[in-house]
Amino acid sequence: MSTEVPNKKKKGIPPSAEEIEARRKQKQFEVIPEGMTKSEWKRQLKQKKWEETKEQYREFQREKKRLQRQRRKERNKQEAEEEEENYHQAKKPSRLPRNQIPTGVTFVMDCDFDDLMNRREIVSMSNQISRCYSAMRHCKYDVGLKITSFNKTLKERFDKDVSQYKLWKGIELNSEQSVEDLINDENRSKFVYLTADTDEEITELLPDHTYIIGGIVDKNRHKELCLNKAKKLGLKVGKLPIGKYIDMNGRHVLATSHVYELCCKWFENDKDWSQAFNEVLPPRKVKGKVDADGTVTIESEDVEESKDTTPSEVPV
Ligand SMILES: C[S@@+](CC[C@H](N)C(=O)[O-])C[C@H]1O[C@@H](n2cnc3c(N)ncnc32)[C@H](O)[C@@H]1O
Repeated sequence: MSTEVPNKKKKGIPPSAEEIEARRKQKQFEVIPEGMTKSEWKRQLKQKKWEETKEQYREFQREKKRLQRQRRKERNKQEAEEEEENYHQAKKPSRLPRNQIPTGVTFVMDCDFDDLMNRREIVSMSNQISRCYSAMRHCKYDVGLKITSFNKTLKERFDKDVSQYKLWKGIELNSEQSVEDLINDENRSKFVYLTADTDEEITELLPDHTYIIGGIVDKNRHKELCLNKAKKLGLKVGKLPIGKYIDMNGRHVLATSHVYELCCKWFENDKDWSQAFNEVLPPRKVKGKVDADGTVTIESEDVEESKDTTPSEVPV
């Protein structure tokens, strides 16, 4: 649609010779009806012209407003983008430590549970992996991290929405290997499957050991899932000593990223769980959901609340 005002005389542009001629001819045939003054007749003509063109004029006004709204929207969007960019520039993550101190400890995120998560949980799980990666890169200690069974919906989500993961350094996202592929009779005793469903408490993380985290967000719908998997694989199990440091009753099911971050912070705080818990789960933010069986689940949305790592803070 044209943005030109219909029938409006163009300012500053003199009429062409044809236009002058056309107007003159029109005037020649104008006959003022009897009993009507010239000015009355002119008013009537003007009214008639308005009736004929008013729809066109209104359409023009609507289009003009639509274009104004569109321009305003684009301007606001651009301003918001600039604001966000400035914010992230001002909030640049601290320098990554150059030489991480070796620990001999490795973590494996067992992502063989895609089928048990809905779409939202898959998104939450991918955010938790991004957080783990960020924690790994920022930690002063080298706390190895490997993602296994990375070959289904979770990988699709990464490929689609977190594609920069392909540039991540020092983390293994393995689509070929499952946890089972890593374990054999020689090394079985060096693996510990982490689960809240045990009384076995971990007091320290041992060198040459691999700690497996169940890569699932399920609001603890699937009770004892990882405990049963560990039993099937003949692995030791252990829970983090959360009860000792956070004042809550019942079992404490943490989000995967909390588990990994806690372990990184344990190294950074001279192997002091209390400090690590306070840094990762400040008590005022511990408000998990309590199940009928007394299980306290602190995961997914709670993770979003308790840390504000955005994907842009994830280093590559
Ligand atoms: C959200 S939980 C999964 C809960 C799931 N229903 C299950 O059966 O394990 C995610 C993972 O974090 C780890 N985890 C959660 N809470 C833990 C705790 N208190 N101690 C040790 N590991 C924990 C476990 O490896 C667990 O599989």
